[in-house]
Amino acid sequence: MSLVEQVVASFAGAKDPRLREIAESLVRHLHAFLADVRPTEGEWAAAVDFLTRTGRLSDEKRQEFVLLSDVLGASMAVIGLNHPADGVATESTVLGPFFVEDAPEYAMGDDISAGAPGTPCHLRGTVHSAAGAPLPGALLEIWQSDEDGRYDVQYPDLETMRGRARLHADAEGRYAFWTVHPEPYPIPADGPVGELLAAAGRGPMRPAHVHFKVSAPGHRTLITHVFPADSPHLDSDAVFGVQRSLIIDFPRHEPGPAPDGREVDTPFHTAEFDIVLAAE
Ligand code: BEZ
Ligand code: FE
Repeated sequence: MSLVEQVVASFAGAKDPRLREIAESLVRHLHAFLADVRPTEGEWAAAVDFLTRTGRLSDEKRQEFVLLSDVLGASMAVIGLNHPADGVATESTVLGPFFVEDAPEYAMGDDISAGAPGTPCHLRGTVHSAAGAPLPGALLEIWQSDEDGRYDVQYPDLETMRGRARLHADAEGRYAFWTVHPEPYPIPADGPVGELLAAAGRGPMRPAHVHFKVSAPGHRTLITHVFPADSPHLDSDAVFGVQRSLIIDFPRHEPGPAPDGREVDTPFHTAEFDIVLAAE
């Protein structure tokens, strides 16, 4: 029996048939990969060292393995398999490392920037089911970077959360909030994943975006972003997270009345993003 068949056979006793299936496929692909690239022993040791360092840098605060999955396109591939575009529901994209469970609650129309620096931006839209019914009370969890491309959690001395919120759609499924215009930023590139990008001549930048996690009873929870159409890096996102359908206009306005009737005395942006949740 060949080495590959011996290794495959060693998993034959696994009680869980799915584990058996996954282990067999993993072993066959791994051995095909080794036969293809024919690593030297030094190269294999370097690969093991790379994965060891990736693991050492992963804990509940920093997940270098998820970042590796992101830059290899594996995160988006898994999303594509589990949330295929159906032409109706809003498309999904990567969660990223900056989501926080217990963000502050805000009410309709509030300013969620909480002092984060940036140009004011009014974002509004609706949450509907795939059948077109509004989803009153849908929970929107929102998080984003400031004008320096940094999230609140990236400021070591910041004690309050900013640029993140939990808010609920109203009785007609509408939501609206003030924030700051998001800006492009680099993914954490000071670890093994950053080394890999640098060695490949790849950039670490993500296009500007606002993250949304949207949930409503009886519907699949949506994890997504919106991207301003004029952002740099839309075609070179380090984590391959851009979906065409998620690119929207964030027009800039001179000082004057905003969509909520407020008089704004500085330039500001507006954007509209309607969200459709798939049925459970
Ligand atoms: C983010 O958008 O927050 C993100 C996603 C993947 C990797 C790093 C950051
Ligand atoms: Fe992000």
